[in-house]
Amino acid sequence: MRYLVTGGAGFIGSNTVDELVRRGHSVVVLDDLSGGKEENLAEVRNKITFIKGTITDIEIIRRAIFEADYVIHLAARTSVPFSMKDPIETNRINIDGTLNVLVAARDARVKRVVFAASSSAYGETPTLPKTENMQPQPISPYGVTKYVGELYAQTFGRCFGLENVCLRYFNIFGPRQDPSSPYSGVMAKFCTAFLEETEPVIFGDGTQSRDFTYVSNAVQANLLACEAPRASGGVFNIGTGMRVNLNEVVEALGAISGKPLKARYDPPRDGDIRDSQADITHARAVLGYEPTVGLEEGLQRTFDWYRATQAAKTEAKS
Ligand SMILES: NC(=O)c1ccc[n+]([C@@H]2O[C@H](COP(=O)([O-])OP(=O)(O)OC[C@H]3O[C@@H](n4cnc5c(N)ncnc54)[C@H](O)[C@@H]3O)[C@@H](O)[C@H]2O)c1
Repeated sequence: MRYLVTGGAGFIGSNTVDELVRRGHSVVVLDDLSGGKEENLAEVRNKITFIKGTITDIEIIRRAIFEADYVIHLAARTSVPFSMKDPIETNRINIDGTLNVLVAARDARVKRVVFAASSSAYGETPTLPKTENMQPQPISPYGVTKYVGELYAQTFGRCFGLENVCLRYFNIFGPRQDPSSPYSGVMAKFCTAFLEETEPVIFGDGTQSRDFTYVSNAVQANLLACEAPRASGGVFNIGTGMRVNLNEVVEALGAISGKPLKARYDPPRDGDIRDSQADITHARAVLGYEPTVGLEEGLQRTFDWYRATQAAKTEAKS
């Protein structure tokens, strides 16, 4: 099968591309490298087609989508704090860009589009775990854009018969998540702090909790979502069904690294939700999704990856 992966040079994207290539599929990646890196695709570079371009340009998408069976649409401005600072730019990429992808997918008659939605759509709805039938109440422009993307995907299903599946990822972490930007995911930042033996920074008191989900589980969901019968038009939570708080993560990384560290506590950030936990019953039932790597193993693999990457960089410099 032929897949177009938008945002395929990013964290979840490149892990998805690796698995598609491993399964022998033909893959086109469209990415403007604003957040992703070509080096994330180094191991598969000569087996895929890479197009550097933006999803705000529909003609580039039309070229990239040529003869695609499936589109896994991951390209986005992914940061909540950035969306608070620049909601217009976040809207331009995440909503206008997604609309371009859907129009191009409709015109190219692809079999299905899988859209990277987000648990941020739920906002501060108090009930845990989150089920897909709760009314979304995003508390950041980013959360709005991800919810609007779902609405557009589903509407294209109803208006034009374009098959679509929306996956609400819950705090995905793992190798290749970029720790260097001020907007990076917390796990990438924590792992780097432990490697460099600097204070891990927590915004708030550390009791806020998340359903941290190792990236291979999200990759599994992406692939299942392309082909699962009866899934089109559906929205699915993709998490582990458990949650853990940030103080516990810092403690676990202390054990893994063998060097316990004390966190620094900074004021909470606007737009960050307090607690999050997925109910994954629907994904289990319809997609056949089952998380296979739990938090502890995921943390260990992630820490090992950052350690190996840092060692390789140090060696290359010397
Ligand atoms: N990581 C998570 O926990 C999480 C949770 C919920 C939803 N998501 C969604 O999953 C998707 C992938 O996230 P990620 O964590 O891998 O982030 P990422 O930033 O590593 O990947 C996003 C990719 O999109 C690319 N991109 C950005 N703007 C683009 C544009 N205009 N045109 C083409 N490419 C563009 C970036 O260069 C990057 O490679 C995003 O849509 C994000 O909103 C992620």
